Amino acid sequence: MEERGLKIFAPEGEPKMDDKVFFNEEMLENRDLSLIAAKAFFEKIDIEDPNIGDPLTGTGIRGLRYSELGDIYLNDANPNAVESVKEALKENDVEASVENKDANVFLSGKPGFFHFIDVDPYGPFTPFLDSTARAANYNSFVGLTATDNSAPTGSYPTVCERRYGSKPLKNGFMHETALRIYIKEAFEKFARYDKCFAPKFCYQFKHYTRVMGRVTESKKRTNKALENIGYLSYCDECGWRKLKRVQECEHCGGEVEHAGPLWIGKIADSRFTEKMLEKTPEEWESSKDILEKVHAESEILTPFYDLHELASRHDVPVPKRDKVIQALDEKGYPVSRTHFGPTGIRTDAPLEDILEIMES
Ligand SMILES: C[S@@+](CC[C@H](N)C(=O)[O-])C[C@H]1O[C@@H](n2cnc3c(N)ncnc32)[C@H](O)[C@@H]1O
Ligand SMILES: [Zn+2]
Repeated sequence: MEERGLKIFAPEGEPKMDDKVFFNEEMLENRDLSLIAAKAFFEKIDIEDPNIGDPLTGTGIRGLRYSELGDIYLNDANPNAVESVKEALKENDVEASVENKDANVFLSGKPGFFHFIDVDPYGPFTPFLDSTARAANYNSFVGLTATDNSAPTGSYPTVCERRYGSKPLKNGFMHETALRIYIKEAFEKFARYDKCFAPKFCYQFKHYTRVMGRVTESKKRTNKALENIGYLSYCDECGWRKLKRVQECEHCGGEVEHAGPLWIGKIADSRFTEKMLEKTPEEWESSKDILEKVHAESEILTPFYDLHELASRHDVPVPKRDKVIQALDEKGYPVSRTHFGPTGIRTDAPLEDILEIMES
């Protein structure tokens, strides 16, 4: 099997957790965007021969893809995976260190060592977050994948409270709430080690969420960034929402629900995503599409609106998304599409203005 010209050894077809070696073709965009983000980071930071860790490597594909950037350290607890990694390294003529340990043991043995760590587990990344925070250099980049989205999107609120210490909300923008809970979790865990985790490019796609950020040593910066941890408010009567804890809906005066604690800052840094866009090959279309949308919406903070949901709630015909975007733009409001869904928009415009446009 091949990905972007690199040979790997994995079973064909739908991936299963009891496969000899796990590989999911559906994660192509995750791997493309992680490579591009790492390139953007290393261009800015310029570390000679950076150490890159892939503690849950499976076939070794991530390490292979990052091998152009630095020294590669691969690990997997499954001895079959390690065998297929070694085969792939030989086949692609790539050198790397390969270990067969529990990921926490692998990371704990290398405190402060890695300049980029890619944590890509089954389910949540939380079991590996402490050891990742310790193994991350004071000047590094970290990528975290989570596939336990049903908990922070509100299907299992108790699991979410237990695992993330946050209350989720199951509504039209639940995937954004989940992303913000994941970012909060990463930020707080790194903060305990006096490391500042600054989200650079975070998104939700298919069945997973990906959080990528820069790690620096700065107690002052971490203290300042604490202001990005908070709550969001949502009115189930009218669909109004805000990234702030308030007691009353600012649109209809109704009661509001809260989700959090979660990250109330930006989910991406537009200067960083701009650099990433410059590095993205035209032919990586699906990956570029995600990146362009995240870039466009990164400066707008209000959680996105799903226009179908808003139309049905207010009993108005479903409007054309581009028409709503154009009208809000003409009124001078920040507005964009959103990567969270094809029928969504992101805008800081007041709800009454959005509804007025939808009704016109
Ligand atoms: C989702 S797969 C990794 C996929 C791979 N990163 C990719 O992009 O194709 C998770 C991998 O973690 C390994 N794994 C699961 N728990 C582990 C642990 N505690 N320590 C080390 N490896 C583990 C599994 O054997 C599996 O290969
Ligand atoms: Zn309301």
